[in-house]
Amino acid sequence: MSDLGKLQSELLARITAATDEAALEALRVEALGKKGSISELLKTLGSISPEERKVRGPALNGLRDAVADAIAGRKAQLGDAALDARLKSETVDVSLPPRPTAQGSVHPISQVLEEITAIFADMGFAVAEGPDVEFDDYNFTKLNIPPNHPARQMQDTFYMSGGEVGKEANVLRTHTSPVQVRTMLAQKPPIRVISPGRAYRVDSDATHSPMFHQVEALVVDRGIHLGHLKWTIEEFCKAFFEIDAIELRARPSFFPFTEPSLEWDMRCDRSVPGQIKFGQGNDWLELGGSGMVNPKVLSGCGIDPAQYSGFAFGFGLDRMAMLKYAIPDIRGFFESDIRWLKHYGFAALDIPTLYGGLSK
Ligand code: DAH
Repeated sequence: MSDLGKLQSELLARITAATDEAALEALRVEALGKKGSISELLKTLGSISPEERKVRGPALNGLRDAVADAIAGRKAQLGDAALDARLKSETVDVSLPPRPTAQGSVHPISQVLEEITAIFADMGFAVAEGPDVEFDDYNFTKLNIPPNHPARQMQDTFYMSGGEVGKEANVLRTHTSPVQVRTMLAQKPPIRVISPGRAYRVDSDATHSPMFHQVEALVVDRGIHLGHLKWTIEEFCKAFFEIDAIELRARPSFFPFTEPSLEWDMRCDRSVPGQIKFGQGNDWLELGGSGMVNPKVLSGCGIDPAQYSGFAFGFGLDRMAMLKYAIPDIRGFFESDIRWLKHYGFAALDIPTLYGGLSK
């Protein structure tokens, strides 16, 4: 083998054996660099005869090109191998199921609202609704609370500016009772409705919030009396609190829109097994007001009090949720604290299971 052939095969073998780019670069400098073995040989061309140069020149150029090509080829090979290795170690598992997005839960107020609606639906009550911004007339006057009546002050509320009193709705309703008026104006007896919803008053402490929830009930028919009212409240409380050992107390009260009027309390005795857990010791907790619909209210809504009578009640929905689920402070309901909501919230519909249990 000629000296060039020997040099070439030796260089090519070393290039093939190079395992990284640094080794290849060292080889390139060694052979093709300024002082590389091939460069040195090329320099000798000047000192040989033209005939010899004709043969030696192309041979040396061929050697230089072969070595340069081999280095480039090996470099590409090493690059591909490195990319291959990276692709193998950095695999993206496209079969990984998407992580479920954070699930909300049912707010205790919504839960209680649904429970109450279901219980009353079983007793034949429909749901009636009214707006939060109400006519002064429906919130007060038609409920026998005329302008300047002191009873208005007990329900200090928020007024919307700009509304012309009597012509435009301008009161954030102080109770759900105006829905009674709306119902009686819209339909004739027999009437059996409940109306859950928001109410507003200037009030704020552990058991009062400026925005709160009530559930109103109204029954108007022939021959309705206090016994119907008592039975309905008792049955409702037993179903809602899921205990038969319920102890209710009725106190005489006053509401301009009922006559007579009663307020209801529920016994919460911690020492009695099975009784409501809320409160301390032997306590009575207020549920809300009720009474026989004042004949003035009936006739004001176009119902003849000589033919029909009715009962109504309005209970605090937040209070009932607090009682049933032992929630000590009403403000938690409206603070949107995620920890509170997690603690008291109810499991929402598990949406991922609808799509084949992606959350598992
Ligand atoms: N609306 C009253 C309040 O918020 C509660 C109430 C009392 C509602 C007697 C009634 C009722 O329907 O008959 O204080």
